[in-house]
Amino acid sequence: MEKYKLLKLVKKHGTPLFIIDHEIIRENYRRFRKALPKVQAYYAVKANSEPEIIKTLFNEGSSFDVASYNEFIEVYGLIDKWREKKKEFFIWDKIIFSNTIKDRETLRKINKYGPLVTYDSFDELKKIRESCNKAGLILRLKVPDTGSQVEMASKFGAEPGDASNLIKKSFDLGLKVEGLSFHVGSQCTNFENYTSALSITSGIFNEARKRGYELDIIDIGGGFPVLYDSNVPRFEKLADILNKELNRLFPEDTEIIAEPGRFFVATTSTLVSEIIGKAKRENKVFYHINDGVYHTFSGVVYDHWIPNFHSFKRGKKEICAVVGPTCDSFDKISLAEHLPCKLGIGDFLYTENIGAYSTASSTKFNGFEGAKILHINN
Ligand SMILES: Cc1ncc(COP(=O)(O)O)c(C=O)c1O
Repeated sequence: MEKYKLLKLVKKHGTPLFIIDHEIIRENYRRFRKALPKVQAYYAVKANSEPEIIKTLFNEGSSFDVASYNEFIEVYGLIDKWREKKKEFFIWDKIIFSNTIKDRETLRKINKYGPLVTYDSFDELKKIRESCNKAGLILRLKVPDTGSQVEMASKFGAEPGDASNLIKKSFDLGLKVEGLSFHVGSQCTNFENYTSALSITSGIFNEARKRGYELDIIDIGGGFPVLYDSNVPRFEKLADILNKELNRLFPEDTEIIAEPGRFFVATTSTLVSEIIGKAKRENKVFYHINDGVYHTFSGVVYDHWIPNFHSFKRGKKEICAVVGPTCDSFDKISLAEHLPCKLGIGDFLYTENIGAYSTASSTKFNGFEGAKILHINN
């Protein structure tokens, strides 16, 4: 967004201001569907759970990946109104519960909806049998996540060698495995992770079918990379690989779904923050701003996100630090930003592409409320 527009919004709404542009959400969704026409997108709500985002994506035709009961109900509330008009409505078409570990209470509460849920262990299978026997199952596999910004394999996914037992055990318990899923790690720029994952998955899928287990769904997870900088390979290049590999490795009747999070929302948002303090520490300028790692910049910690800062004013630039407003010394957003050294208290900075894993994991630490969220073009 143009700088003068940002300043106009700041004048009206104050700072810190987190602006979400819904036109970009729609563009991202359409770009995804155009590049991967056979893949139904289930937006991973965890990336940014703002109800307005869910609504915009729902209106575009998106389905949703949820990780908790609250996320499930947020999405369900929306589709419940719509289902009255759609007689052929089937909950799996709109929601997948893709957290492989669910507490018993959650399983009991969602059972009446006959949900589609993932699992990756024998213990989870037993729990689902006891507390959610109306569910359809997706077995999540452990796959390589080399080089991804956020790795997944150390916490999630069944070892491929255990897959056939996990499938058999499920059917023995009277539960139906509908398909397989994986996640190659978030912001995956190493496309070999996807090709390896598809190769592992197809071996298990085709073998299961040979043994008479009618698996139908392949869920290729998230990880689709955002162009944070010019080193990131283009998403369309990945889509081309995926289309070819999906056609080559799986029978034509396989239903392919994905769980993009970051890809739909990262580029939609800009944060404007304000310099509230300035100090020279060990000969470096420290700008203290009114947002930090406990708030909108939480992604610097949880998402290994590399922040960017831009100034509205020009001037000779030097390396300076940008830190948050709390009285915790951990609250340092960046120690090496290239910014004009003559900025002062009351000047504004803006940060782009901050829509994913930012406000979603913000806290109210030290009594700071966090940024005001503003939706535009919705
Ligand atoms: C199960 C699952 N699916 C999808 C996503 C979204 O991933 P991304 O934002 O990389 O697309 C995540 C992210 O943590 C996840 O855990």
